[in-house]
Amino acid sequence: MKLFVINGPNLNMLGIREPDVYGAQTYDQLVAFIQEVAKRECVDVSVYQSNHEGEIVDLIQSAYGVAEGIIINPAAYTHTSIAILDALKAVALPAVEVHLSDVRKREAFRQISYAGQACIQTFMGHGWKGYEEALVWLKAHLSDSKER
Ligand code: DQA
Repeated sequence: MKLFVINGPNLNMLGIREPDVYGAQTYDQLVAFIQEVAKRECVDVSVYQSNHEGEIVDLIQSAYGVAEGIIINPAAYTHTSIAILDALKAVALPAVEVHLSDVRKREAFRQISYAGQACIQTFMGHGWKGYEEALVWLKAHLSDSKER
C-alpha cells in the first residue's frame, strides 16, 4: 500500500517555530517518526513538505495513479486554499487531514478548513500522534474498501 504524506508551509520550521504550540522536535524527526510508523504498518509512504501552494497542488496531482491515499497537513493553506481543495477533489483519492494543534481552540481565522472539505477524516490536536492515527486509520479504511 502506497500513501503520500504532504506537509504545508512552515512545518519545515518545527523545533524552531512556536515550540509551545508545535513542540520542540524538528521536522526531520517528524519525518523519521512517520517512516517508522509506516514500516511497522507495512505501508510505503512518501513524505513531502512545501512552502508553496502550487507545489502542493502539483504533489497532490502526482499522487494520482501512484498512491492509494493521501495524508495532508496543509498548514496555513488549510484556511485559505481553494486550489488545494480542488486538487484533492480532482484526484479523488481518500484523504485524511492532520493538524498538530487543535485548530478548533485557536483563532477565528483558523476555523475554516477548505482542504478538510475533501477529506474523509481529520485528526487534530494530538501532535505527532495525529500522523500515526491518520496512517493507521487510512490503512484500515483502504483495506476495508478492498474487501468490499
Ligand atoms: C497547523 C495549524 C494551522 O492553522 C497552522 O497555520 C499551521 C499548522 C497544525 O498542524 O496545527 O501551520 O496545520
